[in-house]
Amino acid sequence: MDLTLSVVGCGYLGATHAACMSSLGFSVIGVDTDPDKVAMLSRGELPFYEPGLDTLLAQEIKTGRLTFTTDFSAVADADVHFVCVGTPQSKDGLAADLTYVKAAVAEIAPYLKEGALVVGKSTVPVGTAQSLRQELAQSAPQADLAWNPEFLREGFAVEDTLTPNRLVVGVANDRAEEILKRVYEPVIALGTPWIRADLPTAELVKVAANSFLATKISFINAMAEVCEAAGGDVTVLAKAIGYDPRIGNRFLQAGIGFGGGCLPKDIRAFMARAEELGAKQALEFLREIDAINLRARQRVIDVVRSELSEDLTQYKIAVLGATFKPDSDDVRDSPALDIAAQLQAAGATVVVHDPKGIEPARKRFPNLQYSENVAECIKAADLILHLTEWREYRELDPSLLGPLVKNKIIIDGRNALDRDLWRNAGWKFHALGRTD
Ligand code: UGA
Repeated sequence: MDLTLSVVGCGYLGATHAACMSSLGFSVIGVDTDPDKVAMLSRGELPFYEPGLDTLLAQEIKTGRLTFTTDFSAVADADVHFVCVGTPQSKDGLAADLTYVKAAVAEIAPYLKEGALVVGKSTVPVGTAQSLRQELAQSAPQADLAWNPEFLREGFAVEDTLTPNRLVVGVANDRAEEILKRVYEPVIALGTPWIRADLPTAELVKVAANSFLATKISFINAMAEVCEAAGGDVTVLAKAIGYDPRIGNRFLQAGIGFGGGCLPKDIRAFMARAEELGAKQALEFLREIDAINLRARQRVIDVVRSELSEDLTQYKIAVLGATFKPDSDDVRDSPALDIAAQLQAAGATVVVHDPKGIEPARKRFPNLQYSENVAECIKAADLILHLTEWREYRELDPSLLGPLVKNKIIIDGRNALDRDLWRNAGWKFHALGRTD
């Protein structure tokens, strides 16, 4: 490949992008300020869990095309620079914290060669790209800036990068589009739809997509609340409405709601930005989406109390699942861990199991108890909460677990377990949005 790429910020998004671009044949230099992360990645080891990415990374490091460094001057040879740093929620409000994005662009600016293209991939408030482009016109007039939002899902990161369902590029001129077309040529050749947009639209596409997904989840969780009040079953309702192709059956899994490093902070940052733009009313509904989402956590706690007692101090609760979704070790804004921590704060003894997320969970909530093994986790439990739908939990045999617990009560917070199987084995089985 005739283009050399740099990837600035080697967290989830950056490490995935760097390894995937290397697998397309490009020379890629990844830069990150964290020396430990850089050391691990340079050895071909992944600092987080993502199916398939570990193998790809190790393979690409061996080719010699992919290298990592903490030295920003190493980007000097690159033609295209992907900015993949985080944009977390600010500590003092709903808005996104742009410190890392601004710093990343400022750090590489002195090393940009003639004709270099800086390509933002981070999720940013609309207007950021335009203002960064203006700043770059001062600090590095030889370079240009484009925005190329990322839609990868954790657990499917490699697949979503190499075979995405669309490529969206926000550009200010034809040249920037041509360069990005050269980068993504093998992906475009697969028939991937290519959408050229202006800078603000490209930024908006990303937050609009995540807001829509969050809305779908909160919609079905609102239906779950109504089903509980009316004596209905939200899983049947979701299946039935999902057959209408205009609605679709994906992202209608009712339960304890959405978490992670993206959906919650993105809808909040979007609301904050809309308010700055004078369009607050247009996104007021997202406030309700957020509220429905957080209420789902409380509803599980209410069921626990109604099953055990208002006073939880004498009870042991086993929590299956700590990560915000299966096939990930990410516990950022995890509904499962939030519920576990709230129950513990209410006096219960809480023991958490997770196939991949125990260490990250322990860092966040060191006072919770953790167990590496399901049998030990549920031993003498008064109640089991199923909060992250790992395959391992669906494959549990409830008749074997029965003798281990004190009370055979399980609450399925993800509507993912086989209710009949558990009931036939003598368990009291609750699920959100199912009254029967
Ligand atoms: C999300 C988007 O799906 C990606 O397209 C986007 O690129 C990414 O954010 C990002 O902005 O980087 P991700 O955070 O990996 O991806 O997680 P999702 O698969 O969207 O799941 C989010 C949460 O919603 C999880 O906690 C999941 O358990 C929950 N969820 C999902 C439900 O409660 N019900 C559903 O039906 C689907």
